[in-house]
Amino acid sequence: MNRMPVLVVGIFLTFLSSWLGLVAYPYFALGRFTPVTDEETGDINPPPLSGLAERGQQVYASAGCIYCHSQQVRQVGYGSDLERGWGARPTVARDYMRENPVFLGTMRTGPDLTNIGARQPSEMWHHQHLYQPGTVSPGSIMPSYKYLYRTQKIEGQRSAEAIDLLPPETPADGYEVVPTYEAEALVAYLLSLNRNYPLPEAPEPPQ
Ligand code: HEC
Repeated sequence: MNRMPVLVVGIFLTFLSSWLGLVAYPYFALGRFTPVTDEETGDINPPPLSGLAERGQQVYASAGCIYCHSQQVRQVGYGSDLERGWGARPTVARDYMRENPVFLGTMRTGPDLTNIGARQPSEMWHHQHLYQPGTVSPGSIMPSYKYLYRTQKIEGQRSAEAIDLLPPETPADGYEVVPTYEAEALVAYLLSLNRNYPLPEAPEPPQ
């Protein structure tokens, strides 16, 4: 008996079901989120990124931050992310609607960065940390991102952008360290990471 047609139809149905499950269903279920306006504050959530922060998102991708940092606060019962102080509520799909690509991440060599802008709002701290993590976070194993900064001779007055480096990284007398555009953008992106706003499907921080 010739079983060829059955085989072909079987193969087709196998691929069709995986396409429906992996492409079509997620597209209809998760692909059409819209931002929500908070009736009390008038804020649009999730908020749009500034142009500078969007550039910073690309620097985050190219610097490989995702190899050590996740951006997802897990549901209660799936881990102790809330107890660790990584967010006021678990993240939901709508939180990522403006992200392309999405930096969920799977590795947590370093802490989750979903809400780092709320947890550490100091621009200077981020520059000091990126330049040499150990100077502000003793014993840190995070690599230095010095290549995002420029050491230059002080011409007249110290530049307003110069970062206050801590020992042993303080520059030689007469020199200063300033962030490049990429470093400014990356820090703008990190400061924008604050997903502690309410959404209809994630309203109250669960206790
Ligand atoms: C090899 C792993 C590794 C890579 C790559 C890495 N980090 Fe980290 N990061 C860590 C570790 C470990 C810590 C915790 C110690 C510390 O604060 O430095 C950390 C801490 C941080 C913190 C402070 C978090 C907090 O809760 O205080 C920020 C912000 C951060 N990293 C940003 C970045 C950014 C931005 C990049 C990419 C440019 C990056 N990291 C790349 C390992 C990494």
